[in-house]
Amino acid sequence: MSYGYVQRRGQLQTYFDRTASDAWARLTSTEPVSKIRATVRAGRDTMRAAILGFLPADMSGLRLLDAGCGTGALSVAAAERGAEVVAVDLAATLVDLARQRLPSQLNGGRIDFRLGDMSDTALGDFDHVVAMDSLIHYNCEDVIEVLAGFADRTARSIIFTFAPRTPALSVMHAVGRVFPRADRAPAIEPVAESRLRRRFFAEPRFRGWALGRARLVTSGFYKSHALELRRL
Ligand SMILES: C[S@@+](CC[C@H](N)C(=O)[O-])C[C@H]1O[C@@H](n2cnc3c(N)ncnc32)[C@H](O)[C@@H]1O
Repeated sequence: MSYGYVQRRGQLQTYFDRTASDAWARLTSTEPVSKIRATVRAGRDTMRAAILGFLPADMSGLRLLDAGCGTGALSVAAAERGAEVVAVDLAATLVDLARQRLPSQLNGGRIDFRLGDMSDTALGDFDHVVAMDSLIHYNCEDVIEVLAGFADRTARSIIFTFAPRTPALSVMHAVGRVFPRADRAPAIEPVAESRLRRRFFAEPRFRGWALGRARLVTSGFYKSHALELRRL
C-alpha cells in the first residue's frame, strides 16, 4: 500500500475511533439529529438499501466482507439474509458499538467482527465485498489498489461508493480547506466517474470483471455514488 494510504488510514482511525465516534454513534441510531444530519441519515439509508438491492435476496452460505463496517447496519441486513459476514473496521469504538447493537436473531446468518484494515488478505475470500462510504477518503489510485486486491479474492461482486467529483462539490471542498477546524473529518477525495471507469478498464488485475449497476444518491449534504463490479 502507498505511503499516502497508510497516512490517511491513520487519520481515519483517529477520526472515527475518537474525534467523531459520538457523532457517528448518534447519526447511525434513531435518536433525533439536526436537520442537516437528518438529510445525511436519509441519504445513507437510501444508499444502504440500494446496495442491498445489488445483492442476492437469499444469501445463505454466501460470504460477504463489509469493508469499513462502522456500526454494522449493512452487516446486520446481509446476515439477516443468511450471509456469513466478516465485518472489519479500523475504529474499535464503532466495532464495539456494532457488537452491542447486534440483534439476538440473525435468521441463520453470522457476523464475525474484526478490527483492522479492509485490505488485509488474512480476512479470507468472499463471494461479495461491500465498501459503503469507506473508500471516499482515499485518492483514486489507492481506491483502485484496494479494489484490485478485493478482486483477487472475490468470487461474485464488489460494490463500493465514491464521492462524485462535480464542479459544485469541488468548490465546496476548496472553500472547506480555507477554514480548518480541529475536528474536521479527513478530507473526502472526490473522484470523477469517468476517471474511475478509465482506470478500471486499464487495470490488468480487473481482467474477467465488468462494471455493473450504478446508483447516485443525493440528499442534502450527502452525495455518494455506488458502483458494482461483477465477475464475468
Ligand atoms: C463513513 S464510515 C461508513 C461506515 C459504514 N460502511 C456505513 O456506511 O455505515 C467509514 C468507515 O470506514 C472505516 N475505514 C476507513 N478506512 C478503512 C480501512 N482501510 N480499513 C477498515 N476500515 C476503514 C472507518 O473507520 C469508518 O468506520
